[in-house]
Amino acid sequence: MPPTVPQSSTSLSPEAIFQAPPWRGAGGRYRLGLSPIDAAQWFPQRISISERERKTALLRDEREQVLTCLERGADAAALAARCVAEHLQQSHVESLEQASLLVPDDLCVMQRSGDVYELVAASLCSPSYWSLKEKIGQPLWAIHATVDGLNEAIGARMQRFFERLPLQRIFERRNWSMHTDADRFHPGVQPEPPLPAAAQVLRSERQTLRKLNDDVVLFTINVRFAAVSDLAGHLDAAAEMRENMRCWSADERADFGEARYDALLEYLKTLLEP
Ligand code: HEM
Repeated sequence: MPPTVPQSSTSLSPEAIFQAPPWRGAGGRYRLGLSPIDAAQWFPQRISISERERKTALLRDEREQVLTCLERGADAAALAARCVAEHLQQSHVESLEQASLLVPDDLCVMQRSGDVYELVAASLCSPSYWSLKEKIGQPLWAIHATVDGLNEAIGARMQRFFERLPLQRIFERRNWSMHTDADRFHPGVQPEPPLPAAAQVLRSERQTLRKLNDDVVLFTINVRFAAVSDLAGHLDAAAEMRENMRCWSADERADFGEARYDALLEYLKTLLEP
């Protein structure tokens, strides 16, 4: 029997999502939505004991899936580890793996190669249906090529953002999606939803980007969840969600999943037009 990885160390944290819903504001799913933040907000939470146990188990049992460093990325990974450790005032941190056990976030190291930024190292214990083994070594545009129409919509702006990102300034963005459960580790392909929307969860990632030197950018991902049914207690947020979803492009709907899209709109209708 393979050892069991503790799964959901995450209790739902609806307030982290509903206080300022990630679907708020102009633009659909494909938007940069990047705002500068203070350095003090880079890692607002230290890792919990249960999350540390979960990551440690994954690093032991699924190592190839959750930790990678290309030879050409070794210096960049070491730099990222040092920056995280210094920020948290921790000594004795020498590797990305050790740094990843200080924070709940995933750590993805992007390194410039000519005109593009490539994923050269990562600790990824909370993937939302993507595989590190498939994406490692790829430039940003290739990483995103699997997302319907994303590069066409904002690829050039993403590239410009990376080029112009000022050294050490930190920017934050948030996305959201709908999952069948609140497990953090989903490296595979998203299944079609067997459950009604009300039985599923909203998953939101708070992502940050920080340029550590002329060639290296650290991308961090922090995951939080709310039950879809929590929308019943947040009708303003539910109305904003419906407004946002109604202006999605065909690509944005396809990437979210047509069946998921229809099921969620149907549920919102029951809440907003009882
Ligand atoms: C300017 C920075 C970035 C922006 C605006 C951006 C935007 C997006 C958007 C809109 C999606 C579609 C799904 C969603 O809403 O999350 C997406 C998916 C994704 N992004 Fe990014 N992203 C950025 C940087 C990065 C970086 C640095 C990585 C490096 C690991 C990355 C990895 C991915 C992956 C793996 C997916 C899922 C791909 C798939 O489903 O096959 N992104 N991104």
